[in-house]
Amino acid sequence: MSKLSRRNFMKTGLAIGASSFIFKASPLLPAQPEKKIIAIASSNGLKATERAMELLRQGADPLDAVIAGVNLVEEDPEDTSVGYGGLPNEEGEVELDASVMHGPTHNAGAVAALRGIKTPSKVAKLVMERCDHALLVGEGALKFAKAHGFKEENLLTERAREIWLRWKETLSERDNWFPPKSEKLPAEVKSFVDAYGTINCLALDSQGNLAGVTTTSGLAFKLPGRVGDSPIIGAGLYVDNDIGAAGSTGRGEANLLNCGSFQVVNFMAQGYSPEEACLRTLQKIAEKTKYQPHLLDKDGLPRFGLNFYALNKKGEFGAASMWSGAYYAVHDGRENKLREAAYLFKRKK
Ligand code: GLY
Repeated sequence: MSKLSRRNFMKTGLAIGASSFIFKASPLLPAQPEKKIIAIASSNGLKATERAMELLRQGADPLDAVIAGVNLVEEDPEDTSVGYGGLPNEEGEVELDASVMHGPTHNAGAVAALRGIKTPSKVAKLVMERCDHALLVGEGALKFAKAHGFKEENLLTERAREIWLRWKETLSERDNWFPPKSEKLPAEVKSFVDAYGTINCLALDSQGNLAGVTTTSGLAFKLPGRVGDSPIIGAGLYVDNDIGAAGSTGRGEANLLNCGSFQVVNFMAQGYSPEEACLRTLQKIAEKTKYQPHLLDKDGLPRFGLNFYALNKKGEFGAASMWSGAYYAVHDGRENKLREAAYLFKRKK
């Protein structure tokens, strides 16, 4: 893969190597590495990592911590890629996907194409804990949520409805829908076509336990019933408590065909750093894209975005994106900030 940015690969690899353990001084005992507590998330997850860290410091289970973190984003009407306020399918209905995975019990739960519930990640956790299944979809997922006391609500905000309506009105000049005559929105609407948002959040607690969650409204204006990678264990999320955790955002279809998060954890099991594991997984996905020529740009490179986030048992973390310019949120126990993700291909200016 000639365009793989080796310089960037090395640079961020070294940066991670430099994030060493903090040693506790003691007059009597030899210095012991202090247990790390870490929360990482996609770039829309700074408040999620902040909240997750607060809870981890109070001794919360790492799964409860990451779910409470992403709930803030699921409930935020301004994030058009997750939960309430997420962009709807082509018929104007918001359909949500989410998965959770708990390292200490190696258990997981997920919901897909769930309508009417703001916090699908909470329902995913109930699927894990309160039934003998791992994934519930559509009407069945909604019935299950309501049985557990969730309130069915309209998830389509006015902003998301207007963006959807403008998308519909500008799809074709040969149908019966017209956009308003004076209109600023179409340019903004274009930015949402092919938009795959999502939040992934991963955590390591002071006991060395890992957990993760991925939650999304999926591809904007998708076909009703379309399910992406987020609720699929092994694709949008995977946790092995002996090794590490990984999750993704971006084009779910590409990830579904390659079980990306499982690949990332497998690469970490082979000894690769979290960042290298993410890059190697992206490289495999980029290579497989040759079988789908409609997804290649004129240089033969994938013309979609895909990102992986990874955290290992030692508290090392990293993220990588198919294309340069991506960030991710990290709370390393000292500070909570966005960091630059490594990348496979450099975007042309
Ligand atoms: N990765 C989110 C989706 O494709 O739905």
